[in-house]
Amino acid sequence: MTDRPEIHGADACVFDAYGTLFDVHAAVGAVKAEIGPEAERLSQIWRQKQLEYTWLRSLMHSHADFWRLTADGLDYAMEATGLIDRADLRAKLLDLYLRLDCYGEVPATLDRLKASGLATAILSNGAPEMLESAVANAGLADRLDAVLSVEEIGIFKPDPRVYQLACDRLGAEADRICFLSSNAWDVAGAAHFGFQVVWINRFGQPRERLPGAPKAVIETLDELPALLGV
Ligand code: LAC
Repeated sequence: MTDRPEIHGADACVFDAYGTLFDVHAAVGAVKAEIGPEAERLSQIWRQKQLEYTWLRSLMHSHADFWRLTADGLDYAMEATGLIDRADLRAKLLDLYLRLDCYGEVPATLDRLKASGLATAILSNGAPEMLESAVANAGLADRLDAVLSVEEIGIFKPDPRVYQLACDRLGAEADRICFLSSNAWDVAGAAHFGFQVVWINRFGQPRERLPGAPKAVIETLDELPALLGV
């Protein structure tokens, strides 16, 4: 916990969505009992594959949107955990993914940032319909000035063109954007691009051995206003 402002001159706070604002493990969590002992492993493999497919498809120049990759990742995870025949479960989990819980501190944090005059936005791999659904379900629509999807560019993070989209759409230089992500690889990509980055290290992970370092590391968004001095 810090009470020293470490982020200076920011005009906007731009948030990663999945894992940062929305709990990606909430879908499996909601039907845990139905899944049984493999529930946690299913959720971990699902998330890992969903992300791997973003990086691999970008390298393969074979883009498909994040909704398709979310379904592909789930199919892989269900096969890996012996659940591939559970079509009922697959449908339920995909439906739940469209209305993931947001982390508890998110609404009040966004309110505080907006009240201080900062612009707020999402910049996510998520397909526009996925983001719209999650944002509306969590009651965040009025708390965000913009919801930006990589689909406008057609490639995933951490391609610098994705981070540039936030600058272009918000009319802000990179170093006037405070970017927040719980995903350490996204933190590296965004810092390397030139944002002032805060890593929300919700899961106590080690840092990635990649170029680009965060200006601050906190555990939840509750600590963000103090970093910004608002
Ligand atoms: C996103 C992924 C990285 O929302 O979680 O962009």
